[in-house]
Amino acid sequence: STVEWDAEDAGKSGYDHYMLKEIHEQPRALRKCLRERVDAIERTVDLDLEGLDDVSAIHLVACGTSYHAALYGARLLRERGIPAQTFVASEYDRASLAGETPLVVGVTQSGETADTLGALRTARAAGARTLAVTNTVGSTAARECDEALYVRAGPEIGVAATKTFASQQIALHAFALWLSEESIGSDRIDALRALPDQVQAVLDDSDARSVAEAYADSSAFFFVGRRHHQPVALEGALKLKEISYEHAEGFAAGELKHGPLALIEDDTPLIAVVTGDDEIAQKTVSNVKEVQARGAPVIAVTDGRSDVEQYANHVLEIPETDPTLAPVLANVQLQLLSYWIAAELGRPIDKPRHLAKSVTVK
Ligand code: G6P
Repeated sequence: STVEWDAEDAGKSGYDHYMLKEIHEQPRALRKCLRERVDAIERTVDLDLEGLDDVSAIHLVACGTSYHAALYGARLLRERGIPAQTFVASEYDRASLAGETPLVVGVTQSGETADTLGALRTARAAGARTLAVTNTVGSTAARECDEALYVRAGPEIGVAATKTFASQQIALHAFALWLSEESIGSDRIDALRALPDQVQAVLDDSDARSVAEAYADSSAFFFVGRRHHQPVALEGALKLKEISYEHAEGFAAGELKHGPLALIEDDTPLIAVVTGDDEIAQKTVSNVKEVQARGAPVIAVTDGRSDVEQYANHVLEIPETDPTLAPVLANVQLQLLSYWIAAELGRPIDKPRHLAKSVTVK
């Protein structure tokens, strides 16, 4: 008898979908992203970028998932004293450049997104220097920008961005550490170096599949997170809507009570990302409490340090790490949750209807 296979199945190395394969490639992608860039002994980050010594302000421009990576990166830049703002690329115009001319960073895995290329061209026309943070060597963004920082995720076939997002987060993290004058603590360096193994641990132990099976039929899904976790709350919702076609929205946890709370019912799960036990985490826990008191199921993505578990119907656990890296681990749980919900609903996960891997029209 003959064994039937085609090139596509072979490319998936035993996984049912490229998306799941690419989710599992994240430890490797992150190791590649960090390789020869982070020096554990000297506690330095070295990126091969020129002419960026006197950057006083940064604008990050991006679309879709890359916009969420940009939000994550902008916060880290600001925490290290560098004024940084994030713009949806299609909204970026001459007026966005009012005031001191910033460095404009286009975050784009493909390097071909028309909206992002347009924003970078607007920036250049106004005299700004530009940097492409991209996965694609030789892409239009890489060629047109003054400098390029490659995220090194390797090829991504699934339309829904997964490993490229994690690699963008870490490339932007390294960029924030590299650009800032402040010295980098050994804790941060150690946490960065431990991250790929921690991502592997999440992949090995995740309960996302059983949680997904229990909630796939819900009428809507709400994702919340505060501070470092806000971008991944948005990303969790985007991923879910892209591949499951279910209604999903992400909010800053504090915004729930300013409107979205009205939508909460017993079949609208809240997925809350909460780590640590500081004041910030406690605030999110009270937001979660309010939702649970109104009858919605709560799925907590947490490192076991906050008392969110008390108010959660299910827990998706992540290892403890530096607060700046917890969202990278939390997002892996969110990716798996989306994947398994879409699988449960029988969606064509790698090629969602109406969507394209890179959108070359404005
Ligand atoms: C498309 C893709 C998204 C992606 C966005 C930006 O909409 O479907 O997954 O996040 O483009 O792509 P880029 O290549 O610029 O990161």
